[in-house]
Amino acid sequence: MTTLISNIKKLVGVRQDNKLLRGRELADLPIIENAYLIIEDGVIVEYGEMQNLKSDPDNYQDRNSKSEINGSGQFILPCWCDSHTHLVFAASREEEFVDKIKGMSYAAIAAKGGGILNSAKKLNETSEDRLFSLAWQRLSEISKLGTGAVEIKSGYGLTVEGELKMLRVIKKLKEKSNLSIRSTFLGAHTYPLEYKENHRGYCDLIINEMLPVIAGEKLADYIDVFCENGFFSPAETETICRAGMSYGLKPKLHVNQLNSIGGIQAGIKLKALSLDHLETLTDEDIASISRAIDRDGWTGICTLLPTAAFFLGIPFRHARKLIDAGCAIALASDYNPGSSPSGNMNLVIAMSCIQMKMLPEEAINAATLNGAYAMELQSEVGSISVGKKANLLFTKAIPSLDYLPYSFGTNLIDKVIINGEII
Ligand code: NIG
Ligand code: FE
Repeated sequence: MTTLISNIKKLVGVRQDNKLLRGRELADLPIIENAYLIIEDGVIVEYGEMQNLKSDPDNYQDRNSKSEINGSGQFILPCWCDSHTHLVFAASREEEFVDKIKGMSYAAIAAKGGGILNSAKKLNETSEDRLFSLAWQRLSEISKLGTGAVEIKSGYGLTVEGELKMLRVIKKLKEKSNLSIRSTFLGAHTYPLEYKENHRGYCDLIINEMLPVIAGEKLADYIDVFCENGFFSPAETETICRAGMSYGLKPKLHVNQLNSIGGIQAGIKLKALSLDHLETLTDEDIASISRAIDRDGWTGICTLLPTAAFFLGIPFRHARKLIDAGCAIALASDYNPGSSPSGNMNLVIAMSCIQMKMLPEEAINAATLNGAYAMELQSEVGSISVGKKANLLFTKAIPSLDYLPYSFGTNLIDKVIINGEII
């Protein structure tokens, strides 16, 4: 099946050089004006300026099974690559949302058994089939909002059965969905109540009971730890990650969301694929990051999650210092019931521009190509490149690319194509 998309006003994120965009490179967003693009069997096979569209026998015009889409007036972008979510969960938590409005803090809600423990209780009471169907609906919802690749974490099980159940749901989503999906084991999301005073016991459970089964059934691509005061210390983070790494799981870590306690330094030491959150960074943390990129050859992927900061009402991480330090910023939704009950990447991009001072080009690159790198999916998604999946976001008629984050909250998506199919 061949599809020609013609008369595209602007084809955005066009590149054959696949590279992680660090520092100033993040602002470089290549665009072709008045373009065409050809899809064959779900893959991008050709693109260019309209005036160069050929009609020889080998080309599109004479193929049998073909269709044409007129992209007149539209911008086409690569679909969003959302590299940090927790979208398998059993129930929403709007009652805590109201508690927060009334003045209770995130930490206070967690301390009274709310937060992650509340989600874990509900998840353990919910069947695998039900969890799958809820997560399937969420995937369908985010794909209509332009997301074509997504990372999903466990971490609401906190028991051997619960964590395995979540990861099996993610495995089934991978098998059945058109989206590219990566799976992360986050058994170390918080300490279950029965291990509150026995951290060692829970770490042992993760290392000795969960990880061997996860590795045996190939249930995860990555390992994550919530490294935070009141959760897991940098030393515990290191122990758990090293155990995961012995099974081939690279770390992708929650660090410096609420406090700076050495998570950055632990992550760098572990050569984490990405360090995520980073709302609370000291100058020393930023210096550590910059040194690691220059000297230790660390990839430097820092994943920012502005909708979580927005929802929790904590200060936004200004991205400029990190960009100046040479980081490769990725943007993600953190879709979860406690701190970001939205998987809308369009809103993530708007907030990163408005609140984190990212330029629209930087935000789009961070939410596409760098997001793909943060899931090691850069050879199949993240840009308009020959050989990559035809995962395309069509905008409605808009005056400029800047208009996307500018008119935040407005649905500017006309249609989405994933693997060459309109969804
Ligand atoms: O990324 N910070 C830890 N985990 C999630 C929130 C989890 C929850 O509150 O359910 C996050 O923000
Ligand atoms: Fe998260």
